[in-house]
Amino acid sequence: MDRVGVVGCGLMGSGIAEIAARAGANVIIVEQDTAAMGRGLERIEKSLSRAVAAGKVPEDEANRARANMLFSVDYADLWDREIVIEAVAEDEAIKLDVFRKIDAEVKDPEALLATNTSSIPIIKLAMVTKRPEYVIGMHFFNPVPVLKLVEMISSLLTSPETSARVRAYATDTLHKRVITSPDRAGFVVNALLIPYLLSAVRMLESGFASAEDIDTGMVVGCAHPMGPLALTDLIGLDTTLAVAQSLYEEFKEPHLAPPPLLSRMTQAGLLGRKTGQGFFSYKS
Ligand code: 3HC
Repeated sequence: MDRVGVVGCGLMGSGIAEIAARAGANVIIVEQDTAAMGRGLERIEKSLSRAVAAGKVPEDEANRARANMLFSVDYADLWDREIVIEAVAEDEAIKLDVFRKIDAEVKDPEALLATNTSSIPIIKLAMVTKRPEYVIGMHFFNPVPVLKLVEMISSLLTSPETSARVRAYATDTLHKRVITSPDRAGFVVNALLIPYLLSAVRMLESGFASAEDIDTGMVVGCAHPMGPLALTDLIGLDTTLAVAQSLYEEFKEPHLAPPPLLSRMTQAGLLGRKTGQGFFSYKS
């Protein structure tokens, strides 16, 4: 894949664009306006500079990646892409609209249309396009340049050739480990992770334990790299809520219902790291 498109340059899209560009592709990143473009560029630059400073990425590779990325607010610029990876907000109406636009602009009928959704059925996105057999889920993990996993989700209509091409791209070019999941809410990882995060929020909400003790328990007692509340802050409370809602809607199990505290904090804009305040404070 020499010509890659990424739609959305938030937490996930910026990481996907970075690794695709570092792998040598020409990457066009579509954002909704120039302010969002600026924030996306800043995120990529921060990540690349940290990687260079830590000796993880050679300076010339980072410079090549910088030169390989082009921002746009126009979906028409995606016309010659071989693969487009959508990574906009976890909102079904927005994603459906974005998929319609991508499908209308990408000219190659065999180009792959991938989504980084963590919870929306792939088939729903596929059905608004003229090429459902080329639509697939490619679910990355945050931070994308650091975490090696990609979940690959075929819908009932995704062709075996599409899965094979995406698997080869993820493993051989992006150097990720691929696991496959059926097209069910949460896929494999979030079906396990989200109930755990919700349990931690309920534990805090009920006064059972403090945020610090909950997180220290899992970091020091179970050697997790971060505790569940800090991880919810990293993922974003809004995204965690959206995934929990999809899981609950699909399976109707009480442990998947989002706790009120998660909803109220999201409504209050206390979304975690990205807003400077979630269960913990990130204001400098
Ligand atoms: N490219 C390559 N390497 C990079 C890099 C980049 N752009 N940026 C940083 N790195 C390297 C660093 O040099 C460091 O390497 P080292 O371990 O050899 O020193 C390593 O990556 C970690 O980077 P940090 O400096 O940020 O170090 P931390 O030690 O503070 O780790 C963390 C932070 C990676 C976030 C770690 O705490 C972690 O893995 N936490 C768990 C995250 C997790 O579970 N994510 C999954 C969320 S679920 C999800 O995303 C799905 C969604 O649908 C909800």
